[in-house]
Amino acid sequence: MTRSEVVQTLLSEHARSPVKSTGVAYAPANIALCKYWGKRDADLHLPVTSSLSVSLGPLGTHAKLTPDAAPTLSINDETIPIDSPVAQRCHDFLALFDRGPFRVETRSTVPVGAGLASSASAFAALTTAADDLFGWDLPLAHRSILARLGSGSASRSVVPGFVEWQVGERADGMDSHALPLDVTWPDLRIGILHVSDAPKPIGSRPAMHRTRETAVLYESWPAQVARDLPVIRDAIHNRDLARLGPAAEANALSMHATMLASWPPILYAQPETTALLHRIWKLRKDGLSVFITIDAGPNPKLIFEAAQTAELEAAFPGLEVVAPFQTERG
Ligand code: PMV
Repeated sequence: MTRSEVVQTLLSEHARSPVKSTGVAYAPANIALCKYWGKRDADLHLPVTSSLSVSLGPLGTHAKLTPDAAPTLSINDETIPIDSPVAQRCHDFLALFDRGPFRVETRSTVPVGAGLASSASAFAALTTAADDLFGWDLPLAHRSILARLGSGSASRSVVPGFVEWQVGERADGMDSHALPLDVTWPDLRIGILHVSDAPKPIGSRPAMHRTRETAVLYESWPAQVARDLPVIRDAIHNRDLARLGPAAEANALSMHATMLASWPPILYAQPETTALLHRIWKLRKDGLSVFITIDAGPNPKLIFEAAQTAELEAAFPGLEVVAPFQTERG
């Protein structure tokens, strides 16, 4: 099945005309605690394994969708040239819905340079804004599948809190979507350490492909997830940082190990990233309960609880602390 056929299947029974003048939505960014790395279907963004994330509450994307004669895009009030890659990607995604063109306005509450991918929250917000504009009232699973067609990790950004993206078995991906975990953890904190917001040497899409094609080590990745995911899920249900932290950190570093074993090698860490990891390991050795996760970029994220905030802010003055279970802002 192609992406258009998936969309057609999900939307064929749904309205073609807007029920209001503008559709609006907010979607949070998310950080994977058990990572998604590698696709079994590159077109439908179907993953090799399940993954599990926490949505970042107030950090995310607000999207406004208005039917218009010509497609436009503005991000944080700045008009983006329509032939730029970001505008193309946005409108190509919306074209799948076959109901445009639209004036698209997005506003991000993710701090600039935080090294957080904004694409996940953006595609999730666009999907939910379309749902609002046309009054579809799609079930969560269907919104997640549609958002996934924009970017894999967007499938997890359609809901707040902890979310598991189920790998699914079907070739059309209709069973590969988000499933929220029924648990909150008000004291959980994610800390963002800012190393660099320079463009990545390679995007996550080609990097995943190269890892799968060239790294023998990648063959062990599904086994790594099979070991980590049940521990991470169970630790979340028990709000047990002492179990969550090591499993999440090992999972992230294993993902990076598979990239390093690719050819040509992929290393997102900068020297400063490595220095930070050593500092955090030292703090942990000295008794602080803090763990690391890191995505396709040089900026490590810390996993800890509210009680450790003051000590970590003192150790890392630029630390951006996120409370995932706080409500949105901005
Ligand atoms: O959804 P993409 O194509 O941006 O890939 C995201 C990959 C990681 O952020 C490294 C891992 C994840 O699960 O979010």
